[in-house]
Amino acid sequence: MPGIFISFEGGEGAGKSTQIQRLREALLSKGIEAVTTREPGGSQGAEIVREVLLSGAAKEYGVTAEAVLFAAARADHIDTLIKPALEDGKWVLCDRFADSSRVYQGESGVPDSVVEALQQVAIAGHNPDMTLLINVTPEVGLARVSKRTAPVEFDGPDRFETDTLETHRRRQNLFLEMARKEPNRIVVIDGDQSQDKVTDDIWQTVQNRFAKEIELEDHNLQESRED
Ligand code: TYD
Repeated sequence: MPGIFISFEGGEGAGKSTQIQRLREALLSKGIEAVTTREPGGSQGAEIVREVLLSGAAKEYGVTAEAVLFAAARADHIDTLIKPALEDGKWVLCDRFADSSRVYQGESGVPDSVVEALQQVAIAGHNPDMTLLINVTPEVGLARVSKRTAPVEFDGPDRFETDTLETHRRRQNLFLEMARKEPNRIVVIDGDQSQDKVTDDIWQTVQNRFAKEIELEDHNLQESRED
């Protein structure tokens, strides 16, 4: 059986990386191995493109060039990591995916039709089975980002973290609009709650949606323990 592909989306400081690790552990307790990854990046080629994008080096070439680079990174990530993992029956938990391009590059002025055409080429049908949108009020998210103690990858905030509060608000609305249009794929989680509450909501959502798959793996795990 192929694995399940779940993407995580949300504004800055939504707590995605913590939640991805927690979901990975919860799945492991049911005997399910999940690969955790992130965009832009996640594979060797894509990590090189990540550096170019988030350092701001590509900014001077314009928003269309940036959109193409995000798509190029995504194509490599899918081909070399996501697709093989899913084919191997593993679950894939990805920190940001195509919806980030739709929201961030869309908001920066790239026409929706261009963003969509790029996704068609990059994704080639590998859409997430489910997207968890951790919806965080921009003020709350940005306050969390400013308190981060993790080592910074770039000197100061990355290319997209320096944007104005208005921009962050527009992105939040675009994410929510997408969730309204695709309620079957995108599930909105209240990211202003405590991290533990967000973890509970995510686990409930995942267990409900993939009850059959989780039960089967859990059953296999129990049987292997009895042997
Ligand atoms: P990163 O530091 O990886 O993480 P996050 O903001 O999720 O904590 O930053 C990635 C940045 O790249 C983020 O500001 C969103 C942006 N981005 C795009 O503009 N388009 C995309 O397609 C992706 C995947 C990310």
